[in-house]
Amino acid sequence: MKLIVAKDYAAQCSAAADIIEKLVREKPQCRLGLATGSSPVGIYKELIRRHQQDGLDFSQVSSVNLDEYVGLEPEHEQSYRYFMNSQFFDHINIDKANTYVASGVGDPEESLKCFRTVLAKAETELQLLGLGGDGHVGFNEPGEALHCSAHMETLDERTIAANARFFESIDQVPRSALTMGIGDIMSAKSLLMIISGEGKEEAAKYLLMSDTVSPACPASFMKLHSNATVIISRELADKIGCK
Ligand code: GLP
Repeated sequence: MKLIVAKDYAAQCSAAADIIEKLVREKPQCRLGLATGSSPVGIYKELIRRHQQDGLDFSQVSSVNLDEYVGLEPEHEQSYRYFMNSQFFDHINIDKANTYVASGVGDPEESLKCFRTVLAKAETELQLLGLGGDGHVGFNEPGEALHCSAHMETLDERTIAANARFFESIDQVPRSALTMGIGDIMSAKSLLMIISGEGKEEAAKYLLMSDTVSPACPASFMKLHSNATVIISRELADKIGCK
């Protein structure tokens, strides 16, 4: 894995935007795998700025998102479809018809069938990732075994607690989600993870400072990818003893 240690969050986002911009300029028709959560928000802001000020063109780009909560309508403010529209798609010239976020409503089996069909239809050039405090990627939670393909996942108490900050109360946080599997994530041509936020030291340490992979830390599987980049801040690097 390639590690980039950036001075702060803004520099992390700028480094990530550089990688995405290069890809979009070289391959205007690429498919991007996108992520939600607080961590990528600054990357989307920076890409919007580059679109508006430097003409970065997303008109032929397509996208597929990592995951979606079960039970939230796309118009729900905490749904990941709403997040993607409001944080990114509404501000760039991507054709929304070419963006995909799994449906959190309706029959989950039907949604998963559709999710798998979309994933199989094209190759993802770059998969953007955040890191959950318990080591999850997408919504692949730690456990004895991981799923390869898109599936429904029961969220861990720790994930529910961490994501409660976006909801009025913890009771409103959905208990399950649809997510790409680890195999889907690994099949992207490149992986780009940004680590930001509180309580991620332990997972980041396992990811970056150990030589092992384990379903106890789903993110650790990205160590097996031949083109994976992780961007952390100097502060986190110091906390986990990473030079
Ligand atoms: C959620 C998402 C993940 C994300 C993680 C970390 O559970 N499903 O894709 O990486 O949270 O989020 P944050 O960046 O807000 O810490």
